Amino acid sequence: MRWPRLYLPVLLLADLHCVVHNTCCEHHHGHRSVVLHARPTVSVTGTCRCNMCVSTCLGVFCSNVQECALTVSPARQAQDITQLGKIYDIPGITSTPVNDTDMQEYYNTTTERDYRVLQFFKGPGLHSTLYSPAPMWCSAGTSVQPTMVLERMSRLQCKRVLEVGCAQGFCTLFLAHLCPDVAFRGIDIVPRHIEIAKQCGQGESFANAQFTTCDATALDAFEDETFDLIFAVEALCHLDTPQKRNDFLTRASQRLSKGGTVLMIDGFRSPVFAEANPEQQLAMQLAEKAFYINEMPSKNTWRQHALDLDFDVVEDMDLTAQVLPFWEQGWRVAHFALNFAYILKYVCMCFRLTKPAMANFLAVATTAHAFQDRCTAEYGLLMLQKKK
Ligand SMILES: C[S@@+](CC[C@H](N)C(=O)[O-])C[C@H]1O[C@@H](n2cnc3c(N)ncnc32)[C@H](O)[C@@H]1O
Repeated sequence: MRWPRLYLPVLLLADLHCVVHNTCCEHHHGHRSVVLHARPTVSVTGTCRCNMCVSTCLGVFCSNVQECALTVSPARQAQDITQLGKIYDIPGITSTPVNDTDMQEYYNTTTERDYRVLQFFKGPGLHSTLYSPAPMWCSAGTSVQPTMVLERMSRLQCKRVLEVGCAQGFCTLFLAHLCPDVAFRGIDIVPRHIEIAKQCGQGESFANAQFTTCDATALDAFEDETFDLIFAVEALCHLDTPQKRNDFLTRASQRLSKGGTVLMIDGFRSPVFAEANPEQQLAMQLAEKAFYINEMPSKNTWRQHALDLDFDVVEDMDLTAQVLPFWEQGWRVAHFALNFAYILKYVCMCFRLTKPAMANFLAVATTAHAFQDRCTAEYGLLMLQKKK
């Protein structure tokens, strides 16, 4: 891929400009802005590492959100599904369950590459970019989720923090650099992710971060009462059965100190899923399968598990409006490409595109539909606190 490399310096300059332009640290505390680049290693430039400055600087992105709604009529939505049907075996996809092996193959092969494409080669994390005043192709939006964690972590004065489903370590390393006095652990079920996270985390400024291959439902790499906070960004949606969720929360409760917190930022099935029209429901089911999830848990499902296991729900924040622009920009490209469905199918056959690569296009084509009007999916933050 030659052209992205050619444009990268230009994008980088524009990105620096945007982050500097949006910072309020300069005005309030006389500090310089914080700019993050994650590959090949995570590094932070600028002089300010204090939590307050970074939270304020990046937290600005979380406020002042404009409602963004796809203006897709039901007819156009039906048209998308018809076009997808020319490329994919839709009944086959919806009726075939996915398993952990499929999911690991998906993350092992194409996912990292495709997230980078979606994030205009700027995105270091394997998660959605959230709305920021900077243009969507700037990397700042990927820092919104760890910044939200940082705000809560600082408020609760957490000193031992675990990230579940950390992938290649972006959120953990972001936080580890900014909070040198906090001990961070990151786990993921995919060994290759952990190898990359370890490579990215080499260096003195990440000495407080360690990574281990471990399943969220076992958390067997840790002793009891090891953490003050366990957080996950777009990872717990993969716990798609009551058993897996129950196992995770039971283990999390054991590994947390008294009053410890579980914080999740993720996509959820909407509570009004059953009332959505059949095309919207189908779009969501296709999106779930495309992400190798059988059925995304809803917030209510998590609430119920939490109450059963002696957690209180202490915060519930809706971020759907912030995530929709990211998925909408992908959907626009996919919607255009779907006009040439038969050509696309031919290209896929010629290039022998793998199942996960095909799944990623399906995810891009359907996820914005699912978030639209929150009728089948929502994006948000849920914070659970273990009872003292
Ligand atoms: C969408 S990625 C999010 C990655 C990361 N949190 C970030 O924001 O960049 C989801 C991650 O969850 C991991 N994952 C899925 N199921 C898991 C499990 N049972 N235990 C640990 N990690 C899991 C996947 O391997 C993947 O790396």
